[in-house]
Amino acid sequence: MNKQDFLDIDRIAFFGRTYSEYLSMFGLDEAILKKGRILDCPAGASSFAAEAHQLGIDAAACDIKYNHKVNELIEKCKRDMQHVFEKFDEAEHLYVWKYYKSKDEVIALRNKALKLFAEDFPVGFKEKRYVDAELPHLPFPDKSFSLVLSGNFLFLYGDRLDLDFHRACIKELIRVCSGEVRIFPLVGLDAKPYPYLNEILSFLDSEGIKAEIVKVPFEFQKGANKMMKLCIR
Ligand SMILES: C[S@@+](CC[C@H](N)C(=O)[O-])C[C@H]1O[C@@H](n2cnc3c(N)ncnc32)[C@H](O)[C@@H]1O
Repeated sequence: MNKQDFLDIDRIAFFGRTYSEYLSMFGLDEAILKKGRILDCPAGASSFAAEAHQLGIDAAACDIKYNHKVNELIEKCKRDMQHVFEKFDEAEHLYVWKYYKSKDEVIALRNKALKLFAEDFPVGFKEKRYVDAELPHLPFPDKSFSLVLSGNFLFLYGDRLDLDFHRACIKELIRVCSGEVRIFPLVGLDAKPYPYLNEILSFLDSEGIKAEIVKVPFEFQKGANKMMKLCIR
């Protein structure tokens, strides 16, 4: 097996994490979750919105793939998980076994998220809790959400999504938000810090947005234990 200095995946994977992983990745507590409407963007096959809904939290999820039927989404998620976890073995040295104890545990959590997502998606789509959307354009009015969460998309895929795209997406996440936008992680698939972080911070400053880099109680990629928190007022 070749050792790789990055996770060598050929696509932006359609899979997702569970509610409890979200709480840790984004350093969330109950007070902020109960404050108003939440958007998970892009959500993939995450069960955050499904589990939040069960808990009485007002949460919506959007993704470029939500124009597909649930059975197609399940199949796509399974294929993408297989691809990622095959490639994972070449890059395991970039990860740390703190939050998760083993690869089996990670796979079990991804499968749990898929199951809960797939059970909720058909009804949730009709209720407009799942929305088909392609960044950098979101089909929501200004300030629709009090909290916007963007996990495992923007900076993680900095090898194929460029700075202009990142700026446009962040501007759009800010547009639909009235409170806070949180982005995780701040590293790429090579577990190295996103190289244009200063450019993003200058851009946010020029937009009058207060940005903070905040430590979170989650780490899987080595050193990826911080999120970006944007305060919109
Ligand atoms: C790894 S998933 C993130 C899932 C979830 N946020 C999490 O942390 O588990 C990345 C998602 O980005 C979606 N995606 C890729 N390009 C997109 C775009 N331009 N607009 C919206 N979603 C997009 C993919 O379909 C995929 O589901």
